[in-house]
Amino acid sequence: MNAAIRAVARTASYHDLKVSGYYRGYDGLMDGDSVGMTARSVKNTLAMGGTWLKSARSEAFRTVQGRAIAAKTLESDGVDALVVIGGDGSFRGAQALSEEHGIPVIGIPGTIDNDLYGTDHSIGFDTAVNTVMHAVDKIRDTANSHNRFFLVEVMGRDSGFIALSAAIATGGMDAILPEVEYSVDELFETVRQGAKHKKTSNIVIVAEGSTIGSPAELAQALVTEFPELDVKVSTLGHMQRGGSPSHLDRILAGRLGVGAVDGLLQGKNQVMVGLQQGQLNYVPFDKACSQGKDLNLDLLRVADILSI
Ligand code: F6P
Repeated sequence: MNAAIRAVARTASYHDLKVSGYYRGYDGLMDGDSVGMTARSVKNTLAMGGTWLKSARSEAFRTVQGRAIAAKTLESDGVDALVVIGGDGSFRGAQALSEEHGIPVIGIPGTIDNDLYGTDHSIGFDTAVNTVMHAVDKIRDTANSHNRFFLVEVMGRDSGFIALSAAIATGGMDAILPEVEYSVDELFETVRQGAKHKKTSNIVIVAEGSTIGSPAELAQALVTEFPELDVKVSTLGHMQRGGSPSHLDRILAGRLGVGAVDGLLQGKNQVMVGLQQGQLNYVPFDKACSQGKDLNLDLLRVADILSI
């Protein structure tokens, strides 16, 4: 996020535009809690994790009254247009604000879940997958040394993008993804196949949105079916949302930040700026949030083949 804020601030300066940042997302917007930014004031932020502007899941902004307060702030601060960095909740809020108060808004996809239609990747996804990869590599040391079976839960809300990429990048024996129909019996079969192929360390990546049970429930089912298995559960949690961004995320944030300000200058409104197959494009918020993004079928096949 810091890389995206920096890119917006610098692109605005490049075009001789004044730019401010609102602290704590929509909460700060309603409170009028802002700071002027310049090209220099965002120095040394590129490599920082988190967001120095802070963030919040704002309940008040979900209401018509909350958005009216925010619109007043923008008017009294002389703000002509807003760049929102976030996921579908942030974009739905931005769309409502724009529809109700005529404020031009553009969105930059910033979510590790990578579940927004209209961009191959959202900012944070690559860094999160790298974090998962390093963590699972370490878990594998115990899995290997002790012949243990690990179920590793990763984030992604209702989507399996992190889980699928992580499974390929870590050599997981399987990935349990909300988008793919799967059953506990199929998991049992995977375990049987693993034993047949003399696998000694078994790691299954479970997306937090798993529809066939939580890792704890799956562990229970596994030890009931295979009493000889030593099954452990590891939940990686919020470590996936932190840390210095990868080079891919820094470049993505830079391109999307430039694209967001350019888009506003071209008169674009209520759209998300994304990158598809290397090309910048603008997708209506509605589509970005509701169309639904499919998992890459080729990646699913690769994961299947490589896990034999
Ligand atoms: O949407 C991003 C995300 O990190 C999800 O992957 C996760 O389910 C959720 O946010 C966690 O949110 P919170 O930190 O509010 O519990």
